[in-house]
Amino acid sequence: MAIERENWTLAVLHDPSAVSEAASDFVSTTVLSKPDAAITFPTGSTPLGMFDVLAARAGRGEIDFSGVEIFCLDEYVGVTAEDPNSLSRWLWNGLLSRIGIRPHQFHPLPVTADGDELEAAAAGYDQMIPRGGLDLAVLGLGPNGHIGYNEPGSSAESRTRVIALTPESRTQASAYWEGAIPIPELAMTMGVGTLLEAKQIVLLVTGFAKAEILRRTVEEPMSADVPASWLRLAGPRLTIVADEAAASRLSIVHSGFQGRVADRGGDTHDGRS
Ligand code: GLP
Repeated sequence: MAIERENWTLAVLHDPSAVSEAASDFVSTTVLSKPDAAITFPTGSTPLGMFDVLAARAGRGEIDFSGVEIFCLDEYVGVTAEDPNSLSRWLWNGLLSRIGIRPHQFHPLPVTADGDELEAAAAGYDQMIPRGGLDLAVLGLGPNGHIGYNEPGSSAESRTRVIALTPESRTQASAYWEGAIPIPELAMTMGVGTLLEAKQIVLLVTGFAKAEILRRTVEEPMSADVPASWLRLAGPRLTIVADEAAASRLSIVHSGFQGRVADRGGDTHDGRS
C-alpha cells in the first residue's frame, strides 16, 4: 500500500464536534507552548465548530491569543475586507474577533496589489512568514483535493502565489453565499511548499462528501492531482483529524489499528500499515 513507511498520524473521531475539540487542542497546545506562535487557519465550513470551541476557551481565559501572529491561508484576488466574499473577513468574523486578535496580529494576503505587482506581493508575503515555517497550519480539504487554494496541478514546492480557480472551486465557494455573490477567477494562496515547512500541520476532514477525496489523499500515490496528498511529505508533523463519515472509505481504518489519540473515543493510525 502507498502509505507504507509513512509516519503521519490519522485520528478518526466520532463526529464533527469531536474533530472540532481535537483541532482546538492542537491550537491550545501550540499557543500554550509558544505564546507568539505563527498560525494559519482555514475558512470554509469545516472549521466553524473549532472556531466556536476556541472562542469559548478564550472567553474562559484558557488560551491567551494576545501574542500570536495570524497568517492568511488564501483569499480572492481584488477582494477587500469589506467585501462579503472576503475570506479574511470570514476568518475575522468567525474566529479572530472572538478570540481577541488585534489588527496588528493579523496578516491578510496582499490581494489588492496592482495586477502586474501581484506575484511580487505574493512572494513578499511568503517571505514574511517566519523562517523555519509556521508553528501551526490548520487546513481544510477541498472537494477536489485542494488545500488553501492549491488547486490540482500544484506542486509540492509551490510557494505563496496567484492561482486560477477551477470552475468546481468557484461553484463550491459560491454556494457559501447561495450563489448570490460572484467569486473571482483568481485567488492568492499560501503554497504547498510554504505549508509543508510548518512545524505542525493539522488537516480537518468531516462528512461523507469528503470520504472519496480523503481516500485519494491518503491511499493513492502522492501527486499534484490531489494537492493535499503532498502533506504526507511532512511525516510526523502531519495529523489528519477526520470524523467517521469522512474516514468511511479508508481501507486502513477497516484493517484494524490502534493509535495515539484514542482517549477521545476515536481510533488513530500512525501511517504505518
Ligand atoms: C475552501 C477554502 C479552503 C477550505 C476548503 C474546504 O474553498 N479555500 O481553505 O479548507 O475549501 O471547505 P469546506 O470546509 O467548506 O469544505
